[in-house]
Amino acid sequence: MTAPEQIHNGKLYIETVGCQMNMLDSELVVAALRQQGYSLTSDVKEADTILFNTCSVRDHAEHKIYSQLGRLKFSKRARPNQVIGVMGCMAQKDQELIFNRAPHVDLVVGTGQLREIPRLVDEARSDRGRRIAVSLDRKEGSRDEVASSFESYDPARDPEMRPTPFQAFVRIMIGCDKFCTYCVVPMTRGPEQSRPPREIAHEVKLLAQQGVKEVTLLGQTVNSYKHTQDGKLFRLSDLLELIHDTAGILRIKFVTNYPRDMTDDLLQAVRDLPKVAQYLHVPAQSGCDEMLKRMKRGYTVDQYREMFSRIRQTLPTCAVSSDFIVGMCGESEASYQLSLDLIRECRFKNSFIFKYSPRPGTKAHDLWEDDVPEDVKRHRNNEMLDLQNQISEEDNADLIGSTFEVLVEGISKSAKKAQAADDSFVPQHSPEDAVSGPTQLVGRTRCDRIVVFDGNPRLAGSLVEVAVQGCTATTLLGEIVTHERQSVGMSLPIMS
Ligand code: SAH
Ligand code: SF4
Ligand code: F3S
Repeated sequence: MTAPEQIHNGKLYIETVGCQMNMLDSELVVAALRQQGYSLTSDVKEADTILFNTCSVRDHAEHKIYSQLGRLKFSKRARPNQVIGVMGCMAQKDQELIFNRAPHVDLVVGTGQLREIPRLVDEARSDRGRRIAVSLDRKEGSRDEVASSFESYDPARDPEMRPTPFQAFVRIMIGCDKFCTYCVVPMTRGPEQSRPPREIAHEVKLLAQQGVKEVTLLGQTVNSYKHTQDGKLFRLSDLLELIHDTAGILRIKFVTNYPRDMTDDLLQAVRDLPKVAQYLHVPAQSGCDEMLKRMKRGYTVDQYREMFSRIRQTLPTCAVSSDFIVGMCGESEASYQLSLDLIRECRFKNSFIFKYSPRPGTKAHDLWEDDVPEDVKRHRNNEMLDLQNQISEEDNADLIGSTFEVLVEGISKSAKKAQAADDSFVPQHSPEDAVSGPTQLVGRTRCDRIVVFDGNPRLAGSLVEVAVQGCTATTLLGEIVTHERQSVGMSLPIMS
């Protein structure tokens, strides 16, 4: 929807850090503000409204935002009407503390209050007073009271605001009740709450009508999804089935999975529903029982292995990826080595590796000293990454010679860079007006492997067959297979 012409609310600058949930929240908040007549700018200096959508998962993410805020200390001298807002996880976690640390901030809006942003920005601008809208802390009321203070924010989309025209995130649940001892998310996102299947299916249908081909269902523990509708319990497997036949949708992904909730019905749904990606992100976090217990992850290494072998049995070619934390308090050299062993054993497609960052308000922070020195954390992080990269590259090399069905996402990063460096190039915003010659494109296989290949940018949003000819640890290099065929569709012989 475009804004009525008579409203001009000035320029909006937004900066987003954190996970996909935050990317989706920013997309939706920007869309809401555009409806109020705001226009986006990428230049903070010309902005009338500045928003930071924040993350608290590691200290580094918070630090980045506080230093950005520090840089804006005097920006209102030139623009007295400017409104500066902090939204998202850090807003929910630090609340008034943000005003103390950065007195020039006007707005603090937590993850459960995003609907209020347009009104609060207007109010703050008109009376220059501070505004804070946050949900209850987890101990401030009963579970139901706290849950109802966190509202899932899923208004109608503005197709123009999607990062790419063919891909969209769809929130299926908010919050987390797992309380891993190192993690702030149960505090910043509140209690676990699943959205009604009917609403999700409707949203997917609307997105498909707007041209979306791939939806990624989001939840902190997406496979813990549970919602009873008209007397029927919907699990994630039921939800996948419900949305699977939505016309226009070619791919369905979901992140992030919790190992204990990786039930057989879900694995069977991934096996039996052809549009569902053969890709599971199931973070292990550690390969050492003692550490898993300290993390309160709720499983042992053997239980993770058992889950992993069930994935392999039902979905032999499915790609599995993981997260690991290195250097959590109490992690000895021997425990760390066990994490490396698990990586060698499972041969994940990729792993996201994080140095432990103590988070005030979490159990681990309150109970244990951050006793692994920074240089040891750094060494473990780098060494683990090297091992994972080596495995990823070896496994990618095994795929050379195979042909995959690839959903084309658009022009590759390096081709975009090259084009930007070339003065004569005019940036393109949609595939319709994109240059017509072959250029390097990027897409993903059904098992979520990134592939680059030459092709016409107009192919963005369609499925093509790509033969793999080379690889790096993170990317397959290929060539489009051009043989006579009627149309590109789901019926092609595919590998995942
Ligand atoms: N809900 C997801 C991930 C949430 S946060 C899950 O349960 O897997 C993303 C990742 O950040 C986590 O998987 C974990 O590996 C990492 N992480 C969370 N808290 C952290 C901390 N305090 N220090 C370092 N890494 C952390
Ligand atoms: Fe954090 Fe654990 Fe919940 Fe994931 S499952 S969001 S790591 S508390
Ligand atoms: Fe960060 Fe909040 Fe996501 S803490 S990882 S932005 S849920």
